[in-house]
Amino acid sequence: MMTYNLAEYLRQPLNIGTKSIDNRLVLAPMTFLGHVAFRELVSQYGGYGLLYSEMCSAKAVPNENRFISPYFRWRDEERPRLVCQIFGGDPAVMARAARRIETEDLFGVDINFGCCNGSICRQNCGAAVLKEPGLAARIVAEVRRAVSFPLSVKFRTGWQDDPRNAVELARRFEDAGADALIFHPRVAPDRRSRPPRWEYIGLVKQAVGIPVFGNGDVFDRNDCRRIIEKTGCDGVALGRMAIARPWIFAAWTNDLMPRPNIYLEAALQLAGLLTKHYDPIQAIRRFKRFSFYFSANFKFGHLLHSRLLNAADMLQIEQILQRFFEKSPDLVSKPNLNFFK
Ligand SMILES: Cc1cc2nc3c(=O)[nH]c(=O)nc-3n(C[C@H](O)[C@H](O)[C@H](O)COP(=O)(O)O)c2cc1C
Repeated sequence: MMTYNLAEYLRQPLNIGTKSIDNRLVLAPMTFLGHVAFRELVSQYGGYGLLYSEMCSAKAVPNENRFISPYFRWRDEERPRLVCQIFGGDPAVMARAARRIETEDLFGVDINFGCCNGSICRQNCGAAVLKEPGLAARIVAEVRRAVSFPLSVKFRTGWQDDPRNAVELARRFEDAGADALIFHPRVAPDRRSRPPRWEYIGLVKQAVGIPVFGNGDVFDRNDCRRIIEKTGCDGVALGRMAIARPWIFAAWTNDLMPRPNIYLEAALQLAGLLTKHYDPIQAIRRFKRFSFYFSANFKFGHLLHSRLLNAADMLQIEQILQRFFEKSPDLVSKPNLNFFK
């Protein structure tokens, strides 16, 4: 094993297209979880290089009102580190959406070729586009022609578990003008049931000259260290673990151990931020989604989770949280993966 300080490694700057980031740990895009309220919470702790938005429909983006849309929404302060992810299957539509995002002065745009949710794939978007590598490359090329700010592509191995697919896709994306890749090495139909094939990340990294962010099943500092050592990836995109512990970027990149009451504080803060950004129904739905991942931190997390799911409003949520934390709940070192669907 290499001996190096993980925090120092993650705090190295990295060039992405025409811009650069000062930290290589980034928030992966997650629908219904990585919303503006959650990102505000993460930004209060700091320690991340970029925040990826929830995926936004490329068809809708040109006409979206950022003050009304639940997904295409941000705080002005997060612009310099925010990447907006778009999904779509039509190169011209994707290019138009990317142009709108560039005019909003965000850090960059990301193309979603990873989502294998039925409703997205049925529209021939997300991972479905990977069935036609030529179309996927045309989308990247057309978006590249439309914008000059950083363009990343998030993708999976493809529809067959063959690393040659991933390597071919990565080369095509680079040739088409992508500035960075986020690679989640699972086949498209796999809803995270089998472990990701990190060794494929290493092959993708060797095949391209642009930065590659490794992604998938990084749950603790050791995993983070291992994915970097095993694959040589330039950075790491954290998904579910960042939802469970929103301070994780600050902890890992500053070598800090979080204080025990950070769990209650963070959950209460998120409740408040959701109330600030969304109407009561939207806010509580998002908190309940967060509660899956948050509850995975505790030995008796299923009790907390079922109580939170039954809460009628944010006031009840706050009361349930206060009561659960009265007796300092036992933490688990690795999250309970039953909650991590
Ligand atoms: C609830 C949920 C929603 C997700 N939404 C998106 C999305 O909108 N766009 C995307 O590219 N990936 C999405 N993903 C995939 C994550 O970005 C990430 O690739 C995956 O969770 C593996 O990383 P992790 O093991 O660190 O969670 C989602 C994952 C989850 C669990």
